Amino acid sequence: MKDYHKLLSDEISLDPPDWEEMRTLGHKMIDDMTDHLQNIRQEPSWRKIPGETKESLKMNLPQEPQAITDIYEEFRQRILPYPSGNIHPRFWAWVQGTGTPFGMLAEMLAAGMNPNTALGEHSAMYVERQVLSWCKEMMNYPQSSSGILVSGGSMANITALMVARNHQTGKDVRKEGVRAATGNMTLYCSAETHSCVEKAVEVMGIGSNSLRKIEVDNHYRIRTDELERAIKLDIGAGNTPFCLIGNAGTVNTGAIDPLEELLSISRKYRLWFHIDGAFGALAKMVPEYSDELGPTEEADSVAFDLHKWMYMPFEVGCVLIKDSAAHREAFASEPNYLMNHERGLAAGPDPMGNYGLELSRGFKALKVWMSLKEHGIRKYAAAIRQNIAQAFYLGELIEREARLELLTPVSMNVVCFRYKRNDVSNEGLNKLNKEIVMSLQEDGIASPSSTILDGKYAIRVANTNHRSRKEDFDELVRETVRMGDKLLT
Ligand SMILES: Cc1ncc(COP(=O)(O)O)c(C=O)c1O
Repeated sequence: MKDYHKLLSDEISLDPPDWEEMRTLGHKMIDDMTDHLQNIRQEPSWRKIPGETKESLKMNLPQEPQAITDIYEEFRQRILPYPSGNIHPRFWAWVQGTGTPFGMLAEMLAAGMNPNTALGEHSAMYVERQVLSWCKEMMNYPQSSSGILVSGGSMANITALMVARNHQTGKDVRKEGVRAATGNMTLYCSAETHSCVEKAVEVMGIGSNSLRKIEVDNHYRIRTDELERAIKLDIGAGNTPFCLIGNAGTVNTGAIDPLEELLSISRKYRLWFHIDGAFGALAKMVPEYSDELGPTEEADSVAFDLHKWMYMPFEVGCVLIKDSAAHREAFASEPNYLMNHERGLAAGPDPMGNYGLELSRGFKALKVWMSLKEHGIRKYAAAIRQNIAQAFYLGELIEREARLELLTPVSMNVVCFRYKRNDVSNEGLNKLNKEIVMSLQEDGIASPSSTILDGKYAIRVANTNHRSRKEDFDELVRETVRMGDKLLT
């Protein structure tokens, strides 16, 4: 670069040319989004994106500056009206929490501060530590355990499984790879376990053939007799069983594996006991579930998502590991450019990069810190309890309605059901129920998702929604029956 002196005579920055205009627009954005959230019940639960809107979202790479007011107007017209809908009171698809207005504002503050919560002496590092300490308290984990905030359940599970893999081999797997292990490393979970565990096993180089997906009982919980049989078979074959994964709330039906039994099996065979509690682990705070989920406290690690059943804005998940040294050993590294110093900016707590895969990390902790202070943990526990009560209420409505069939008993916050008529074949019912789901969504009435249980297409309601009210479930049942009747005529 020869002419750099010339360039430096006219330096640019990305700050606004007119700060007052930015401030005014920022206030309007907050007003508009607050109105949007306040009035969300009046909106459809989901809206189809018109073809021309989708087309209009395909644009050439902008070359020149555009007015910020015009850009915001485009957002209001082409983007804002077509959300996934999880902020709506009748959204119950997959397992997606609702977010909160204060959480939204916290996200803005975090983006304004814009720290990289990876390392260094700055406030975000201490806020994350505090949040992790609260997470330990929520799960009744000792303060000596370690943890990290991650993007969600998938990352939380893979983080824990990597620690398990490295720790359990007793070898330097980081250097030598899984070939250092004696025999084929095997791990165990129920057939209902979330697909992210399989992905984790693939990414870790263990190979999904070594993940033993154990049969479930008629309540979709792992069969412990089959589990022990599989472990013994592996031992007999010279394989190395190293980890058992229990579900605190399966994605399909919300089933909780028999965690107490899994705990003793894990101890008997010296397996790392990990719990995928992406949403269900948080129900531990509900008195009716504290016993069943109690063994979570004894597990070696637990994964759970604060953006699911703590209603935090996307995205924030958490993993806790009892053995903090094993956790650190699995990830720690200190290249020259990341050296910790005694003083100055490069001082500060142990870098978070020593506890996970990511180095660049946003300030997820702020929305958790601010939201927990806003509501207090008791209110969160009450909201979770309310969601479970609503799921049981929905189950009762379904059982009372002759044209609906509950496909598995409600055990927590997930309800799977279908419209049914005895004169229609299973194949016909599968088609009909799929049509009902799509119509409920397209008509903006409600957004359940779907799954297949025992060959039956299920309308699936996963309730992690703090905006839902009893009447929303009445409406879902009424409309499902109306649509089923209409489609059959
Ligand atoms: C039981 C369970 N585990 C793991 C996950 C994956 O979590 P995430 O989507 O946050 O990565 C989910 C997601 O719904 C889940 O329900």
